[in-house]
Amino acid sequence: MRQVIASAPGKLMIMGEHAVVYGAPCIVTAVDQRVRVAVGPNGEGEIHVKSPNVGLDEYHKKLSQLGVGEVPKSMTFVEHLIKRVYKRYSICSGITLTTESDFSSLFGFGSSAAVAVATAAALSEYFGLKMSKRDIFDEAYGAVLDVQGVGSGFDVAASVYGRTIYYVTPGKVIESIFTGELPLVVGYTGIKADTPTIVRQVAELKRREKWVDSVFGDITTLVERAKIAFQGNNFVQLGKLMDRNQELLGTLNVSSDMLDQLIRSVRKAGTYGAKLSGAGGGDCMIAMVSPELRDAAGEAIEEAGGAWLKVKTGAEGVRLEV
Ligand code: MEV
Repeated sequence: MRQVIASAPGKLMIMGEHAVVYGAPCIVTAVDQRVRVAVGPNGEGEIHVKSPNVGLDEYHKKLSQLGVGEVPKSMTFVEHLIKRVYKRYSICSGITLTTESDFSSLFGFGSSAAVAVATAAALSEYFGLKMSKRDIFDEAYGAVLDVQGVGSGFDVAASVYGRTIYYVTPGKVIESIFTGELPLVVGYTGIKADTPTIVRQVAELKRREKWVDSVFGDITTLVERAKIAFQGNNFVQLGKLMDRNQELLGTLNVSSDMLDQLIRSVRKAGTYGAKLSGAGGGDCMIAMVSPELRDAAGEAIEEAGGAWLKVKTGAEGVRLEV
């Protein structure tokens, strides 16, 4: 049988992180950095995986052992995804699967979600399963929950549908709200955030403190206003809403010194507004900026000790590669 290749983009959270875990909406954009998964035949009736990008040269698993025993960390999402799809579609043939990524899993671009989505699409094509985008979302989100236990699925939705979307967990609303590229600069703190740990810390704060619900209510209002601003291409307004979102995230204690430093530096460089993107604690920050100040903002990120990631936003969702 032939080999098929599918690819899926990484993502950047624009607004609404943390609140989205509790049913509030968020806005997320897909980035032009992709994960590619190739699926081909395997004569031994096993799963053979090669992921040289993450230092995994060769990994074998018998079909009956999927999801059982020791699984290398870099393989967990792929293995759980394969297990789910094999079970749902009663597949019993082995495959060889190779993964490759344009970006480091350190950036917080959602490599786990993207690899699960690309794997689902590649399996669908290889075995003729005719999975719809919604089927791919459901299986990939299921695999993410199997592994992490927490997560709203916004990253999975961005990888499947692409562009810039308004999302309500668990895929209750997935609405494309903007199709172009956003005037964003992205700065990486150099620190890897542990999303499940930070999500659990916020859950604990929410359990202890009543005011957290009103912060989530305020974030919801900001996201609704941001959706309208997107529809009117009003990036100045979006910047202001991002600044306010950052203040609210600060009250949840999820920002960090490095994030604050990079955010201050781009604000000084004249951006419309800036905030952390994702769980916080590290990973990336983003800023809305006019095209003529983009380079100045990027340089400000580097001068403040961060890395300016020159990614494009609004990328296409999961697709088959020729
Ligand atoms: C993490 O990138 C964003 C969070 O809202 C978690 C989630 O939505 O799964 C903190």
